[in-house]
Amino acid sequence: MLAITLKEITASAPGKIILFGEHAVVYGSAAIAMAINLRSFVTAKFISEKQLSIHAKDVHLSQEFPLDLEAIESKIPHLKIMGPILNCCTSIFKKKFPENGIELKIWSQIPLGAGLGSSAAIAVSTVGALNGLLELNLSIEEISSLAFESECLVHGTPSGIDNTISSHGGAVYYKKGSVKRMDVRSKIPILILDTKIKRKTSFWVGKVKEKYNANRQVFSLIFQSVDKISLKGRQLLERGYLKDLGELMNVNQGLLDAMGVATPEVSKIINKIRKLNVFGVKITGAGGGGCIIILCDPRRIKDISRQLRKDHDIFSTSLSRDGLKIEKMVR
Ligand code: PMV
Repeated sequence: MLAITLKEITASAPGKIILFGEHAVVYGSAAIAMAINLRSFVTAKFISEKQLSIHAKDVHLSQEFPLDLEAIESKIPHLKIMGPILNCCTSIFKKKFPENGIELKIWSQIPLGAGLGSSAAIAVSTVGALNGLLELNLSIEEISSLAFESECLVHGTPSGIDNTISSHGGAVYYKKGSVKRMDVRSKIPILILDTKIKRKTSFWVGKVKEKYNANRQVFSLIFQSVDKISLKGRQLLERGYLKDLGELMNVNQGLLDAMGVATPEVSKIINKIRKLNVFGVKITGAGGGGCIIILCDPRRIKDISRQLRKDHDIFSTSLSRDGLKIEKMVR
């Protein structure tokens, strides 16, 4: 009997926000991340040309590569955007080299470079789509760890939180080496404000490292406090206590300020939001720009968005229970 092979598969994976614990997580503190309902999509299909063809339409990039492991690997260090995607491909091809050429089409609803985990979501959906197309049957943990390798090319020394949440979905309580999925029953409505200020995670991770090295005792205490915030935040999130969660977000923001990742421009926006009497507001991710998350009384979401929309890009989101998902298969 002939094996029925796939011709085409589309996978998707969510972006994320970090509710508590960014930066401190790099030093072993706990963090809480939550998948959001904005996703990246990758369609992988077999093509007749013996090549790997990649089209990333959001960044207007299309490139063809010879179907040769060494040739592809030699390109990885030289290509900023394609490199991490190629790395996902080679890590899969090392497990099973395709007999036919492959085309990848990549698109995303997640704003790029804004701290919402777009690179991890693209890596997870790329590995997920290739895993499906080549019928490798990798587990979700294996997919997440291959995506992590490609995240290292983007961010230097990432904690692994982005690929973990994008693969699993839902909300996770994360410490280096341990991931606990949380049982969050409520919707957790969140407003995201994109400051449109571009920033690079590795730069801000490096800045915090400099400060930590200059003042280890003080910074260790800051990171320990963040660890306690995440622990408390976990209980509150599982119980859906939005007001108390907001209060903890404000305390975490104070500590992010102490770590030096809130620039004057970001702090100005945060202070403006505070005046609207929200439950909580903080940076999400590396800081220096990127996105700000807001928790408020669900009945006030429309009003608060309306007030902030005059000057900012703002959108409403909530918890996504789905991690990596197969959207479509063509046999
Ligand atoms: O890439 P971002 O902006 O989502 O930030 C990642 C979170 C950090 O804690 C700053 C770094 C990390 O690898 O955990």
